[in-house]
Amino acid sequence: MGLPTYPESYWLATASMPSYGKLEEDLSTEVAVIGGGIAGITTACLLAREGKRVVLATADKLLNGTTGYTTAKLTAQHDLIYDEYIGHFGEEKARLYYEANMEGLEFVRRLVSEAGIDCDFAEEDAWIYTNSGSKLEAVEKEYEAYKRLGIPGSLEKSIPLTVPARLAVVMRGQARFHPVPYLRHLTEEFVRLGGRIFEDTTIDKVEENGDTVTVTSADGRTITCGDAVSCSHFPIPDSGFYFARLHCESSYAIAVRAPGELPRGMYISAEKPNRSVRTITYGGEKLLLLGGESHKVGQKEPGFVHYEALEDFAKKEFGATDIVYRWSAQDFEATDKLPYIGHVSEGKKHIYVATGFRKWGMTTSVVAARLLTDLILGRDNRYAELYSPSRFHADPDVGTLAKENLNVAGQLISGKLEWVRRKPEDLGPDEGGHVRVNGRKAGAYRSPEGELFVVDTTCRHMGCEVAWNDGDRTWDCPCHGSRYTFRGEVIEGPAKKDLERLS
Ligand SMILES: Cc1cc2nc3c(=O)[nH]c(=O)nc-3n(C[C@H](O)[C@H](O)[C@H](O)COP(=O)(O)OP(=O)(O)OC[C@H]3O[C@@H](n4cnc5c(N)ncnc54)[C@H](O)[C@@H]3O)c2cc1C
Ligand code: FES
Repeated sequence: MGLPTYPESYWLATASMPSYGKLEEDLSTEVAVIGGGIAGITTACLLAREGKRVVLATADKLLNGTTGYTTAKLTAQHDLIYDEYIGHFGEEKARLYYEANMEGLEFVRRLVSEAGIDCDFAEEDAWIYTNSGSKLEAVEKEYEAYKRLGIPGSLEKSIPLTVPARLAVVMRGQARFHPVPYLRHLTEEFVRLGGRIFEDTTIDKVEENGDTVTVTSADGRTITCGDAVSCSHFPIPDSGFYFARLHCESSYAIAVRAPGELPRGMYISAEKPNRSVRTITYGGEKLLLLGGESHKVGQKEPGFVHYEALEDFAKKEFGATDIVYRWSAQDFEATDKLPYIGHVSEGKKHIYVATGFRKWGMTTSVVAARLLTDLILGRDNRYAELYSPSRFHADPDVGTLAKENLNVAGQLISGKLEWVRRKPEDLGPDEGGHVRVNGRKAGAYRSPEGELFVVDTTCRHMGCEVAWNDGDRTWDCPCHGSRYTFRGEVIEGPAKKDLERLS
């Protein structure tokens, strides 16, 4: 068994999206939606259903962000969270969070069934399990929270997997699917309703002036509109200090062939390094999808070791014979662990944001699309206050905020001080890392064919030193999660400009 050289997402390898041209003229519309992931596509489609004229603009291609690299569990079980939410926000808000996400799941279930979308949708229970004494109490408390909130579930002393587990909390009636055919359907509906899509269109600025919003692409093209929605993962504009309120986590996945019956149900471990398990049964192919190894982007040894750890888990626990696909992606998390959905900041009446999905955006994106549609149409929505980006919770926001920003400051300084001896000539085929060029620290990668790519490793967002990720051959920023290809091209914001190429 050997891992393929380059990461490839199962979802994008087995189903495709329609493609669209880039924005090449100035235009005007009622609403501009930025971002071609599940949040942007769903929001654009719901607004078009309401009769709005909508333009969707995205950098790169549709689904090339996190949505194309997800594990696609559709669930309101977002790790061990309900006991914590009750403690921080109270029972009513914790219940609202559950209900919002179950409505998101129900939206997908109904659409799949009514439109007959062939997207491997299957109803399954979701399990959080632990084999560690230190997490037993947390799992028990989570089950107590389920009971208080009326969440259908149970506490189990074993799980139907060969993976060792002493206790598990189960949430009933959840689901999983293949996001690409599902989102292809929504995209085609959007276009049928008159929506326009522009790919390869990086948005540089979103500015509000009275009742007019101007969205400007990196090429200088403008979309003039009444409202703009940023579903671009990192908000544009960052007028709400999101760089200080969000952090970005990487996570890894592999799809494997394994002997015997594939397990039913979706599983995630309570302890770190986390492990996630579900099956794929799409197009006659049966695979086991294993994920986990989360860490902050650009920190804690990014890269290949994480794929190897998942591979070991696949072999040991499931007798995996083949790693067929492997991929990684990242998602943002707010300091108080609740997504930000609503007006981007208090002063902006016509610019909206949806971000901070904490690696649980499949249902939350529907919550976001509905909430943003209601806000734009001036309708009430019972989740508006819960998700409002202007919310302020003294606990735990302030402490976490201070810790996050100390972490960023630490990364900024330590990256710059590190001394490197290695020169570009020292790199072997398919090897990358920091090197010294003309007395100055730089980053280099040598392709398997021997071509050398040298970049300035100063992140184009706020100047932190990017780290080499040998698993994905990317440069990852430890401060706010920007990622770049080995050529220096941006693949994840907040940075909007490529790393400077030195050769
Ligand atoms: C490994 C992994 C596993 C996961 N598993 C699950 C799961 O099982 N269940 C679940 O619910 N969630 C899961 N998630 C989370 C979920 O996949 C994400 O929350 C969701 O896909 C985010 O969707 P999005 O539309 O907000 O972002 P994205 O899909 O990242 O879309 C953002 C879009 O914005 C575009 N963009 C960015 N900047 C600009 C710009 N300046 N101009 C124009 N466009 C721009 C990007 O190109 C991209 O198209 C997982 C996440 C990871 C990383
Ligand atoms: S992402 Fe902010 S400095 Fe790199």
